[in-house]
Amino acid sequence: MAELTLPANSKVRPGKKHAAPAGAKKPKKFAIYRWSPDEGGNPRLDEYEIDLAACGPMVLDALIHIKNDVDSTLTFRRSCREGICGSCAMNIDGANTLACTKPIEDVKGDVKIYPLPHMGVGKDLVPDLTQIYAQYASIEPWMKTESAPPSRERPQSSEERDKLDGLYECILCFCCSTSCPSYWWNGDRYLGPAVLLQAYRWIADSRDEATGERLDALEDPFRLYRCHTIMNCTQTCPKGLNPAKAIAEVKKLMVERR
Ligand code: SF4
Ligand code: SF4
Ligand code: FES
Repeated sequence: MAELTLPANSKVRPGKKHAAPAGAKKPKKFAIYRWSPDEGGNPRLDEYEIDLAACGPMVLDALIHIKNDVDSTLTFRRSCREGICGSCAMNIDGANTLACTKPIEDVKGDVKIYPLPHMGVGKDLVPDLTQIYAQYASIEPWMKTESAPPSRERPQSSEERDKLDGLYECILCFCCSTSCPSYWWNGDRYLGPAVLLQAYRWIADSRDEATGERLDALEDPFRLYRCHTIMNCTQTCPKGLNPAKAIAEVKKLMVERR
């Protein structure tokens, strides 16, 4: 029978509490998921009350403030701090998003932060992306051609280029895949919205000459057809993209070529 509760060793326990500094002008509480492979045991939710007057406006600013000034053991990924690298994706206030573009003031009450759901955890807010990167590699995300290379670049009309809008902007943050129930339950075989959007990005590229081969690779009851158009992916994408539409376009091409 399906297990609908967390296994005992995954249940999140109350953790350490860090009080606001004396004289804090704008105290705000952050409850953050903590787990370390070195310590083992159950994960815990540590509470940090910080002074918003002493840190920047985004959730990532608060995490950096906590790491620098309160608890250097807190672990998370970040790089660009401007919504470009995709590395600070996490679950904030119940939704997957980027910590660097999520304003703290958008969260009413305590700010609850967990790693991206249904992934293994490396440490604290760092998800294990090994499988999803392997799935990304499996769609061969590069331009494939058979015709002789032209003397200069391969030309593309502006209409052909327009077809890549809404696809090329994907930053591979995986907020969408980790919000997709089909990916939660079949993530080992279903490619999920992020990887399928990337697959469509190459199928839609007029310069790519491997469309048939790419569609063949997706013609499978699990890799593509586990999408049931639940739309969580599109709702959560912090870049405003529509992976569900990209998946629907791939399905349409499958039907058209039959
Ligand atoms: S539309 Fe498809 S990919 Fe998106 S959340 Fe739903 S099942 Fe997942
Ligand atoms: S489609 Fe959006 S949510 Fe999904 S990986 Fe790309 S940028 Fe992130
Ligand atoms: S730090 Fe790069 S997207 Fe947030």
